[in-house]
Amino acid sequence: MTLQVAATGRLTSEQVRSALRAATLAPSTHNTQPWLFASGPGGIEVRADPDRILPVADADRRELLLSCGAALFNLRAAIHACGVHPVVTLFPRRPEPDLLAVVRPVGGASVDDRLARLAREIPRRHTNRSPFSTEVVPPAVVGLLRHAAELEHAWLPRLDHGQVAGLKELVRTSHRIQMNDPAFVAEWQRWTARDRSSRDGVPMSAGGTPPAGDAWVLRDFGTRAAGSLRPGPAPEPLVVVIGSFGDDHLDRLRTGQAMQRVLLTATALRLDASFISQPVEVAHLRERLRVLLGGGVWPQIILRLGHGSPAAPVPRRDLEEVVVAPTLLTA
Ligand SMILES: Cc1cc2nc3c(=O)[nH]c(=O)nc-3n(C[C@H](O)[C@H](O)[C@H](O)COP(=O)(O)O)c2cc1C
Repeated sequence: MTLQVAATGRLTSEQVRSALRAATLAPSTHNTQPWLFASGPGGIEVRADPDRILPVADADRRELLLSCGAALFNLRAAIHACGVHPVVTLFPRRPEPDLLAVVRPVGGASVDDRLARLAREIPRRHTNRSPFSTEVVPPAVVGLLRHAAELEHAWLPRLDHGQVAGLKELVRTSHRIQMNDPAFVAEWQRWTARDRSSRDGVPMSAGGTPPAGDAWVLRDFGTRAAGSLRPGPAPEPLVVVIGSFGDDHLDRLRTGQAMQRVLLTATALRLDASFISQPVEVAHLRERLRVLLGGGVWPQIILRLGHGSPAAPVPRRDLEEVVVAPTLLTA
């Protein structure tokens, strides 16, 4: 049976479906897909799914908000691609922290062609954990990524050699701490190495090759244990931190949108990307990273960018599982 979604404002019900499908292609921690959507005649609600919080890795819901922010960015871009302007209100009802945003597609307002173009990149973006080639990412490209973050009210600082070395050390330390924490490992294992039929979690096929020598430590999603892949070369990829100027729920939801704008901009520039979240998931090391960056921004996400081998898409839940009845936009 096909899910019925209401036509919304200037969008037909088929356009709403395709925008929601685009939203579900956003990245999320361990592919938890911690979002719910509702569409009514007044617009589309974006909600956090409290059943998909990671109590160990993400007790304060920071990464849940980043993931939902990424889904919201995809939704905005997909609506612009329909030639319609989405008016977005973040946290429209203060006492309801799970109601993250309402998106009202309106007529008459301008359509942002840059967002419409980024919408085309949504199905092409996949987390790529393979080793990256030695090809250097040019400074002009880094400038475009920085601009993408700034357009969404976030900051992508320029890192000097000392900061990169300090960050690499923080990654190693935080990875060790997490791998020695049985609660973290148990939670991580629940969401990884899922069987083929699973519509969430990270399948083994999405794991990369083991890093060699002094490379950045990436999470192992199963392929290394299988022993089927040899270590790849260990060139220096571009590693960037995206930070926010505050660290409350609103800042995090905004930074999730910035993260996705950076990722889709990178995809448009034919760059691959993966995440290195260990230092921002361990509270005292996140604080050290903040100091390393000069103390002005809250580090929210760390990305590795470069040119890897092709990465396959990982599954998503069907719309039927993530679309619920609206609570706010009933009229
Ligand atoms: C906030 C956040 C943190 C993430 N952290 C990591 C990470 O530390 N290591 C990793 O390999 N992938 C990480 N990911 C990537 C997810 O595992 C990935 O988005 C998910 O499996 C869906 O796959 P896709 O991005 O290819 O669509 C993170 C994603 C998000 C949104």
